[in-house]
Amino acid sequence: MLASGRGSNLQAIMDAIGEGRLNGRVVLVISDNPHARALERARIAKVPTRLMLPSGYQSKADYEKALAQCCQEYKAQVVALAGFMRILGPTFLGHFPQRVVNIHPSLLPAFPGLHAQEQALRHGVRFSGCTVHFVDEGVDSGPIILQAVVPVLADDDEETLSERILVQEHRIYPRALQLIAEGRMLVEGRRVYFTEMERSERGSET
Ligand code: GRF
Repeated sequence: MLASGRGSNLQAIMDAIGEGRLNGRVVLVISDNPHARALERARIAKVPTRLMLPSGYQSKADYEKALAQCCQEYKAQVVALAGFMRILGPTFLGHFPQRVVNIHPSLLPAFPGLHAQEQALRHGVRFSGCTVHFVDEGVDSGPIILQAVVPVLADDDEETLSERILVQEHRIYPRALQLIAEGRMLVEGRRVYFTEMERSERGSET
């Protein structure tokens, strides 16, 4: 997993594994921030950690190459980003085609990028939520795997809305990873199907 901060999604994923809701293992946590709480959570769970700072590399491509090598060294099958504050480019993504996933605190494609909850409040939407998606070279723009809807309440501020969205993040991220672990996912263009049946049903809608 790649995380820059608090690591609550990492924790939710490790908890889901511990409780048997997710078949898998967190093989490594990489952070670009020495103070990331995610690193501490990983250490407590006895998961290997690596601090990798971009300043130690000559270019973004070199940094990404090192990140990819590190993930491969630990035999990562899937790379899950959770609050990783960098846009990954082709150098990294090329090593893990359709194997890099992210969680974002809005109903994409609405409100990509930073401060998604604040963007939602400013826009006046009545519902927001979160999205687990595959990562492509854009900002929060890859094919959508799972989403959860969260109502925006009249007295919500960024903090209260973020908190309620986070509860749903912790629920859907492990579920999305479990679907990947079960090999159930078919990705065709922007569409992600969980079964052949769904593919033929939804495919015929268009
Ligand atoms: C989450 O809100 C996630 O959606 C966003 O960054 C935050 C990370 O939180 N991409 P945490 O570090 O997992 O607690």
